[in-house]
Amino acid sequence: MFESLTPQPPDKIIALIDEFRADPRPDKLDLGVGVYRDAEGRTPVMRAVKAAEARLLQTQDSKSYKALAGDGAFLDAMRDLVLGAEAPADRIAAVQAPGGTGALHRLFELAAKADSGAVVWISDPSWPNHAAMLRHLGIPQRSYRYFDPATRGVDFAAMVEDLKGAGPRDVVLLHGCCHNPTGANLTAEQWDVLTEMALAQGFVPMIDLAYQGFGDGLAEDVAGLRAMAARLPEMLIAASCSKNFGVYRDRVGAGLVLCRDAAAAALAADNLAALNRVNYSFPPDHGAAAVTLVLTDPALRADWEAELDAMRRRMLALRQGLADALRRETNDGRFDFIASHRGMFSRLGASPEQVERLKREHGVYMVGDSRINVAGLREDGLEALARALVAVGL
Ligand SMILES: Cc1ncc(COP(=O)(O)O)c(C=O)c1O
Repeated sequence: MFESLTPQPPDKIIALIDEFRADPRPDKLDLGVGVYRDAEGRTPVMRAVKAAEARLLQTQDSKSYKALAGDGAFLDAMRDLVLGAEAPADRIAAVQAPGGTGALHRLFELAAKADSGAVVWISDPSWPNHAAMLRHLGIPQRSYRYFDPATRGVDFAAMVEDLKGAGPRDVVLLHGCCHNPTGANLTAEQWDVLTEMALAQGFVPMIDLAYQGFGDGLAEDVAGLRAMAARLPEMLIAASCSKNFGVYRDRVGAGLVLCRDAAAAALAADNLAALNRVNYSFPPDHGAAAVTLVLTDPALRADWEAELDAMRRRMLALRQGLADALRRETNDGRFDFIASHRGMFSRLGASPEQVERLKREHGVYMVGDSRINVAGLREDGLEALARALVAVGL
């Protein structure tokens, strides 16, 4: 039976990792894969997570199943982290899932279950897995314009024009902060406009929150979505702990569903648990248990916040450093957008040919759409990178 399967297109980022590994040049630079790197190029286990894991090893006395929807303490802590302690807990259904991807998958399924005709709108461009998952689930999708290649900022007029077509009960997927792949984010005023549109048109926003704490700070990065949640009857949020807790491989995420009232929230919670059951039954516990300890123990939490803040500041300093180096190289400010973008990524606006030349001639590896991972930059390599970018005609 398996001869009938068709080959799948190779994952571009994984192919890039292989190419990078095979490159013998000592000064090669990997700006491709989307994981945080410190100054030594490592993706560390965060101090507070390590301490929480050590404590778990000492204190955990059973690995028996927990609840289908996941651990209640984890879900409460995630709800507070994302929506704030003042959020209306009785209107929020929550589910634990393997990573942000698992949470997105679960919420897409819930939306389709609630309304079989729901269309999901995604930004152009977006994280490629959004479109791929929707195709896999057979959920209709449409895209809205988001990025202005001239300014490398958000083309908000075009976004609004396109989203005027979003109907009642359509789902509009927004990146909570640190837009992947562009780094261009919505302002507080733009979040407000989208909130008004959701109220007037009846669409339900779904927020993909994969980088809370990587942009302007833990609270700052969710200010837009919190303002929206305060005014809307319904909203979906998929939160990932992969980046901000550094627990990529442990697969930790949460889906949050804001409902009209407590009865609707109980129904949503019931359905989320049932969806977990038919997908993988109980969500993985270890990483979520460590995250719960970090979020609820004051000392661990303070240390986590301090380390996360240092990571964020490192990325901001690298952004500023690269923008400054490019100013010196070009004598103009056309690369200043790198300093105003937020999060791990910036889309440089290079052509595929320029991306290829950067790799071949300069050993600089980035994704084909010219997305760079800022955390992959080296402080002592900014001038060389600026020269390379200008040399290929950017
Ligand atoms: C925009 C976006 N959403 C969701 C995810 C999901 O991350 P994970 O499933 O590893 O938690 C990522 C990871 O790269 C992402 O960039």
